[in-house]
Amino acid sequence: MMEKNFEKSMKITDFNIEINKENVMALAGCRRGDPVCSEIEEELPELAREMVKAAAPRAYIRFGMMRREEHDDTVIPAVYVLVTAGCGMEQISDGYFKAGEYLSGLLADAIADDYLFQVDGQVMEAVKAECALRHLGVAGRLEAPADIPPEFQQTIMEESGAAEDEMISMTRGFMFCPVKTMAYVLVLTDDEKTFNAQHDCKKCGAKDCRMRKDKTIMIKTVNSESGEETWIECAEGQNLLEAMTGAGVYISAPCGGKGTCGKCRVRITEGRLDASPFERMQFSRLEIKDGLRLACRAYPKSECTVVYGGGEDSFRAVAEFAGTDLSKSPDHGTGDAVLVIAADIGTTTIAISLVEKESRRVVHTVAMINRQRAYGADVIARMQASNEGRRNELQSSIRRDLKQGIDRVLSETAADRRLVEKMAIGCNMTMTHLLLGYPCSTLGVYPFTPVNTGTVEMSLEEILGTRMPGLEKVMAVVLPGISAFVGGDIVAGLLACGFAENQETGLLIDLGTNGEMAIGNSDRILVSSAAAGPAFEGGNISCGVGSVDGAVCSAEIRRGTGTGNASIGERLQDEPGGGEQYELNYETIGRKPPVGICGTGVIEIASELISSKIADETGLMDEKYLDDGYKIADGANGTPIVFTQKDLRELQLAKSAIRAGVETLILKYGISYGDIGTVYLAGGFGFRMNIEKALRIGLLPVQLKGKIKAVGNSSLGGAIRYLTDEHAERDVEKILHAAEEVSLSNQKEFQELYLEHMFF
Ligand code: SF4
Ligand code: FES
Repeated sequence: MMEKNFEKSMKITDFNIEINKENVMALAGCRRGDPVCSEIEEELPELAREMVKAAAPRAYIRFGMMRREEHDDTVIPAVYVLVTAGCGMEQISDGYFKAGEYLSGLLADAIADDYLFQVDGQVMEAVKAECALRHLGVAGRLEAPADIPPEFQQTIMEESGAAEDEMISMTRGFMFCPVKTMAYVLVLTDDEKTFNAQHDCKKCGAKDCRMRKDKTIMIKTVNSESGEETWIECAEGQNLLEAMTGAGVYISAPCGGKGTCGKCRVRITEGRLDASPFERMQFSRLEIKDGLRLACRAYPKSECTVVYGGGEDSFRAVAEFAGTDLSKSPDHGTGDAVLVIAADIGTTTIAISLVEKESRRVVHTVAMINRQRAYGADVIARMQASNEGRRNELQSSIRRDLKQGIDRVLSETAADRRLVEKMAIGCNMTMTHLLLGYPCSTLGVYPFTPVNTGTVEMSLEEILGTRMPGLEKVMAVVLPGISAFVGGDIVAGLLACGFAENQETGLLIDLGTNGEMAIGNSDRILVSSAAAGPAFEGGNISCGVGSVDGAVCSAEIRRGTGTGNASIGERLQDEPGGGEQYELNYETIGRKPPVGICGTGVIEIASELISSKIADETGLMDEKYLDDGYKIADGANGTPIVFTQKDLRELQLAKSAIRAGVETLILKYGISYGDIGTVYLAGGFGFRMNIEKALRIGLLPVQLKGKIKAVGNSSLGGAIRYLTDEHAERDVEKILHAAEEVSLSNQKEFQELYLEHMFF
């Protein structure tokens, strides 16, 4: 286990703490409805500001060895940690108590406790990062007096390096001064998937602590794919989804916990978790018996083991732009070239590229799922979660992903971190708000006002809320957007596709839940977005899934005789109850057994149903398929994967919104199809889509055939250009200046075209 550079001492003094009102109220023993509670609530913001100003937080951390007397003096690898909030805070609370202002004293004390807990949380993040670098995990946390004798805190002080700090001392009775100080030891393990570093209320001697979670139920979560095990706490009355997301354990929840998508399935493998009436309606008796539950509807009452995950980790993010595969194998050894990092934060996936600034060579790109999906698949659900008090959790989630991605792209290339100069991030306006911790309250409701659409430049440390060793001097830019619906990802796309310098008129379309589109050239650009709904991402489709392994992504229906020699993953024989027989060929992502239908599969199936006349031009399917849908494949356990009449209707709504949006924009721009030089189809969905079939269902006008270019991840391409092209900043300004937003919902033409293009 021990490597040469195992031992390390760290001192952290920079923390980004925002006092949490709910925690402070709990720590102060306030219950909603108490008259005292409202008095305290009023006083809190001002006092919190004063307290935070007075804080002098610091943490001393040392990776070293520990002798365990109770284990025959065995020497084990451990981390000594001492965390303090400093003296200033307790001086304020003491002052209030001395002056007889007990309520203020109590509140000040609670603020100091919340502050210390939060500092400790951020220290955990730093320890976790260091452990990851060493491929180690944390087996447990030892605290006095439950796990170690009180006098051992003196050893922690010395080992951690805190003894050198004049501000910190210990009384003969082993009390720390400042009082708001904690010291503990983390026992390390070779199992890097384990991180049991949280303090354990069940063992803790702080009987009066109001944050006690004795009523907390411990749940063991097991990732079905990686085998990763994490113990999490679930408060009584809290559902499993909230407990898991709150603890940073990722589980997909496309509907944001409303109980409508059925995708947050987990399996109880040990212990007991009674099925709710809602779950009894969702699952068969056999499935309930087999332990299947919905995390958003499951309320644990006792310790149990929950297996979750599967499929989502294989989500395919597009790491290609304009014919360049950015995801090619990492190119080790970047020499001494100056490096930059570009990122695209999409609602579903995140892509991060390491690039040599001078040569513009992409060294490596990593792609990963955006774990905010645990709060809902689309931006509406995320905004809602943020507005319901989960803003900090959402920010932590995206910060964690970004940090992990940066770590990966650097470590997989063995790049010298000191050579990294800058980072640029392209993302839609909701992701910008969630990353920067802005409230989303005005973003999702009329008149849809973002907190800030401008360029944001700050240190990477400020963006991530934590320091990344070796990257302390890196500045990060979040690219500007135009409106609530047209964000930095589209501005980056326009930059990447040359709209700032092109004389020829181009059309950029990014297909997703919101189909963003822009038409124009260097003089004038019209931008807009059409609410297409989630069908292109497999959402609201009965057997819809994202672009994961096993998703049916391509299909072909032929009239045939049917030989009955169907083989899963390749071919399926369909027999529509006598009469004509059809032969269906389909492909799945990764050539894996079918699990559902993704967006490109939806387009292809619809196109094939129309071409083979199984559905007519109004979108009405042959009556044979009206009840049970058209069977595409056999899924897991023989459950059929079908495409239903309702699915076809969902697609009609989505495709006519996009088509009508494109045509309205062309009309507003005052040109015809012939005047458009190139149509840039951006994003993962457009990249994989069969253009012929998209034209067949009328998603795009056939007049544009031959001009359509699937460019891939134009947001990532734009972020790269921003960092490597000396004129890029000026070009972004030009784009912002030339751009004008068209609100489709106000356009009469859009309404008419929308109805017109509903048919095939
Ligand atoms: S009771 Fe729980 S929250 Fe309070 S100090 Fe102890 S471990 Fe921490
Ligand atoms: S059913 Fe959608 S998150 Fe649970």
